Amino acid sequence: MVLLGVNVDHVATVRQARRTFEPDPIMAATLAILGGADGITVHLREDRRHIQDRDLKLLREIVPNELNLEMAATEEMINIALSIKPDMVTIVPEKREEITTEGGLNVLAIKDSLKDVIKRIKDGGIPVSLFINPSRADIECSKEVGADMVEIHTGYYADSKGLQQLKELERIKDAIAYSVSLGLKTNAGHGLNYYNVKPIASIKGLRALYIGHSIVSRAVLVGIKEAVRQMKELIKEACLNV
Ligand code: PXP
Repeated sequence: MVLLGVNVDHVATVRQARRTFEPDPIMAATLAILGGADGITVHLREDRRHIQDRDLKLLREIVPNELNLEMAATEEMINIALSIKPDMVTIVPEKREEITTEGGLNVLAIKDSLKDVIKRIKDGGIPVSLFINPSRADIECSKEVGADMVEIHTGYYADSKGLQQLKELERIKDAIAYSVSLGLKTNAGHGLNYYNVKPIASIKGLRALYIGHSIVSRAVLVGIKEAVRQMKELIKEACLNV
């Protein structure tokens, strides 16, 4: 069964809108786990626009399954990861002006520095995933620089419609099969919601999906435990080909 990592960044976005104490992403994480989340993901951004350092520290204490830290490959973030020791790190590109992560890492352009960053994080006992576009060249490069895992960017699939979306789905299927054949643990995420998740969740070889915005959005209306339960149900149906 494909695992579900729930990204609680946007619970913190609502809190930071007022710079107050609620809603607390720590409480949200606990309820998400009770709803069936296989892990919790947070992106500690350089500008701290949503998740704060305090959140990451507390999550490390309370997440019993998989705590996934998304981060840019900067000196500051490497030191934080090595001190907090999440269960895995996902390296993502980060631009200050962006609304959300735009596109995967340009792994070919930063190959040498990535090799060094991955080694340092892995030497600290933390497995490393790279967030990449569904491209064979990027997958080969991820393997070469020593990543344990990749997360295939599903944003182009999520943002397209009709024939274009079918094309993007084929690209993702090909990327996942290729990545699995190279022995990389293979995840996917970005832009997935209750309407577009099934074709992705049914792809053979996929390890985990990382989903945030749609679950937090539904949680505003039905509560986070129920929102996670509904997403798990869709993933289960897709895996069983219902
Ligand atoms: N995976 C990665 C690498 C991301 O950066 C994000 C967004 O923080 C997600 C998954 C989740 O994307 P969404 O919030 O669109 O579900």
